[in-house]
Amino acid sequence: MAPIKLAPSILTADFGRLADEVRAAEAAGADVLHLDVMDGQFVPNITFGAVVVEALRKVTGLPFDIHLMVVEPERQIVAFAEMAGTINVHFEVSPHSHRTLEAIHKLGRRAGVCLNPGTPIAAIEESLADADQVMVMTINPGWGGQQMIAAQLEKVRRIRSLLDAAGSRAEIEVDGGVNVGNAALCARAGASVLVCGSSVFNSTQTVPANLAALRAALE
Ligand code: DX5
Ligand code: ZN
Repeated sequence: MAPIKLAPSILTADFGRLADEVRAAEAAGADVLHLDVMDGQFVPNITFGAVVVEALRKVTGLPFDIHLMVVEPERQIVAFAEMAGTINVHFEVSPHSHRTLEAIHKLGRRAGVCLNPGTPIAAIEESLADADQVMVMTINPGWGGQQMIAAQLEKVRRIRSLLDAAGSRAEIEVDGGVNVGNAALCARAGASVLVCGSSVFNSTQTVPANLAALRAALE
């Protein structure tokens, strides 16, 4: 099994202390920082844009995993390219996803394609060869702190076997409701990047304690 990367999402972090929260996650061994960009159209909430991501770039050396929950994501790629990592676009709002993935690659960044729970795998089957990462949403996007839709792990398994059959080394990222109780199930299904929002940034435990618990759950 590939080493599993933990990708804390700042969505449920304390935004008044954002730099400290991010530094705490890095110091505690986070592998990637997951950044949820929402536009109030693709999803009801508005979070933050490139200005905040640029400020965070000065705070941490962690690779940025930009999750664009915006309509017309192709219009936003250039703004985030400087700071990414990986730029993930939702298939549901990117009808020309082939061109979008190509545009991300031309900017020298990893390209990810995301699937909502209701979107079938067939929608991205033709794009698998062009993606460095497939993000399987295990919640309906828009909010942190939701319960994982466990049936989506079957989708992870099926995508992993399609990728393996094609000889692709693309990673599968699971986003939504990952916690100590299901992290190992996600890994076993074939995910190698686990987004952790409320299971890392919450008011019950510290960030290092939460990350340590997730690591332990994966052993
Ligand atoms: C929600 C975001 C997620 C969110 C996950 O639309 O895409 O990345 O932060 O939060 P949890 O881990 O609490 O479900
Ligand atoms: Zn996300």
